[in-house]
Amino acid sequence: MSRPDEDVDCYLSVDGIEFFRQRNGCKFNAMNPTYMLPSDDEESKGDWAVELNEEIPWVFVTGVDIVPIQLREVPVRCRFEIWNIAMPDMPYDDAYFDLIHARDVLTGICNYPQFLGQVARILRPGGLVILIKPDLVQYADDKSEDEWMLGSESGPRGWFTLWETYRNCLTLLGVDVTVPQRLRKLLEGTGAFENIEDCRAMIPVGFYPEDKRVLTVGQLQWMAHDLLLPALRSMFLSSGMVESRVDQIIKDAQTDLYCGNTFGLSSHLHIVHATRREE
Ligand SMILES: C[S@@+](CC[C@H](N)C(=O)[O-])C[C@H]1O[C@@H](n2cnc3c(N)ncnc32)[C@H](O)[C@@H]1O
Repeated sequence: MSRPDEDVDCYLSVDGIEFFRQRNGCKFNAMNPTYMLPSDDEESKGDWAVELNEEIPWVFVTGVDIVPIQLREVPVRCRFEIWNIAMPDMPYDDAYFDLIHARDVLTGICNYPQFLGQVARILRPGGLVILIKPDLVQYADDKSEDEWMLGSESGPRGWFTLWETYRNCLTLLGVDVTVPQRLRKLLEGTGAFENIEDCRAMIPVGFYPEDKRVLTVGQLQWMAHDLLLPALRSMFLSSGMVESRVDQIIKDAQTDLYCGNTFGLSSHLHIVHATRREE
């Protein structure tokens, strides 16, 4: 059982508007019920929008999120808007943007084809869409979860069980967990895009890579996953699992993460880009 003060919802407001919901001691968005990762300051910094604006100062950048972006100073040619991109009609005119970039927002979108339909509508003909999604299937020593399950060795079971639980919870919420590996097909399915390129990158999680630059990626991913594991607790509890089971799943996954050199943990990142077909 959770402590009575822990899992009770309360709403937190910014400028009088209740953008956040507090549950199990974490802060979540109040707008999109399927996006169940905490909305902490680290996550909603708007880095990509600001960096693009700094690198190409003559462009105008619009950053969209379900929560207010936590920035002290917003560059002049950059603005942040609050909108749930899972809604069927985005508040932008047809052909409004030259470039649309969406990174790691899958878990907040149940109807991905509908989202792509909106992207096609608000992107100008010839405009570029860049979609970046990590795979929700994990790898150890370059073998997928399924390959480990078929083999005789046990592998990092705790790690795999956590990811299986995460996928099951997302599926219960109506999120299609196979979207990352099907992005090309989904873009093709709209009939609105051409020059579709699907690049896949292996992303290490841990301190085992020998190459210095790859090692840095592994370290950053390790830190990101160290934060992700406890952040999933609330989602798992909301799916109806008992608290002791949830805590055990997270603990076992942490054990595998913390002895990350035993198995080379990794995930795949899909970086897919395409241009809006001219009418
Ligand atoms: C994992 S973070 C990634 C942040 C950023 N895109 C990046 O790559 O650094 C996901 C962000 O997407 C936002 N988000 C999730 N679902 C969304 C939705 N349906 N509409 C708008 N923003 C959403 C979350 O609030 C969060 O800030």
